[in-house]
Amino acid sequence: MSERNNWNDHASANGFYPQQEIKRTYTPEEAGHGRRRRPVSRYRRRRRRPPNPGVILIVLIFVAVFGVCIYFLASGRSAPAAGTDLLSTAESTGAGTGEENGLAGKERVLVLSEEAVHTGDLILVNYAYPYTFPADAEEEITAVSAYKNDKYYVRDNNSKLRRSTIEKFNILTEAYFAATGFSSLQVNSGYRSYQEQVDLYAEYVATNGEEYAKAYVADPGYSEHHTGLAMDLNVYVPGEGIYYVESYEPCAWFRENCEDYGFILRYPSEKVDITGINYESWHYRYVGTPHARIMEEKDLCLEEYIDFLRSYTYDGTRLLYDADMGVTETLAPEEPFTEGTLIYFVPAEEGETRCRIPADCTYAVSGNNVDGFIVTAEKAAS
Ligand code: DAL
Ligand code: ZN
Repeated sequence: MSERNNWNDHASANGFYPQQEIKRTYTPEEAGHGRRRRPVSRYRRRRRRPPNPGVILIVLIFVAVFGVCIYFLASGRSAPAAGTDLLSTAESTGAGTGEENGLAGKERVLVLSEEAVHTGDLILVNYAYPYTFPADAEEEITAVSAYKNDKYYVRDNNSKLRRSTIEKFNILTEAYFAATGFSSLQVNSGYRSYQEQVDLYAEYVATNGEEYAKAYVADPGYSEHHTGLAMDLNVYVPGEGIYYVESYEPCAWFRENCEDYGFILRYPSEKVDITGINYESWHYRYVGTPHARIMEEKDLCLEEYIDFLRSYTYDGTRLLYDADMGVTETLAPEEPFTEGTLIYFVPAEEGETRCRIPADCTYAVSGNNVDGFIVTAEKAAS
């Protein structure tokens, strides 16, 4: 039985400790008690002691360290080489502006590791490109019930997804509820470990045979469910039963608008030859915005979209998405990027890849799990 509001708000005790009042101590004279003495001057000179050599040494070291820090800050060495960010793998899939690190007005360069090709919202995982399980995969994968809103169900408390996927799905289902009052979607299957995929595959083979299993269940290691970005959805109506999203009328809004929130139907019926997976009306995948919209507009599945993006590069023609108009254009190499969402591909190099980011924009970088990176850079009109 599903639970809708199995929300764990992680409330913790608020450890507030009032600052201790510092009580002033009074001399007997000030307090007016005891025998009166001649007041002692607070400014009475004390006998000079010779300076302690240890203290002098510590002060000198402190002054030297402080001076070196000031020198490096003043000479710009904390923001190396005109906007170069030396980023670790995890940071490379984040977002930022040029405001910090004194990079306003400057192009920045991210240095991306080889491993970063296998991380990010746009990774392609299929029979050709297995998922690379990161060492800390489990850290980002979390129980849906812990972070979900109350606008959908989750099958049980063991169902997991990437935390960021839950947050994006919360936004989508809030909008869905606001538009229609519907809140009966159910996350039926989310993240699967390698072993869980092994078990599922074996179960399908045992029940339906090898051919059927291959058409619907990816080989262990090659499933999008390992990423925490994909989920199987159905409709759960208490007291009635379970329905397909595909054929349940109140799900029309969801089917038509999920792309606006970064989710795609991953295995459409007309793309079976390309995805290698049979039509799955239940399997949705987060790829982010505006990518989901562009894929819909151009009728591309993820395999095709990853190929399509290779034509757009930082120094060549770039894709430009206008969110207000909902249209995708291209920006010629000589045309400046002034506003909108710019998308381009950066091929991975052996070892580290230098990835250029336009000045003064927010950006996100995702590996494609094949051969490079996709940059999504946003700039508001100035
Ligand atoms: N059902 C999809 C293909 C999977 O098992 O990953
Ligand atoms: Zn699935």
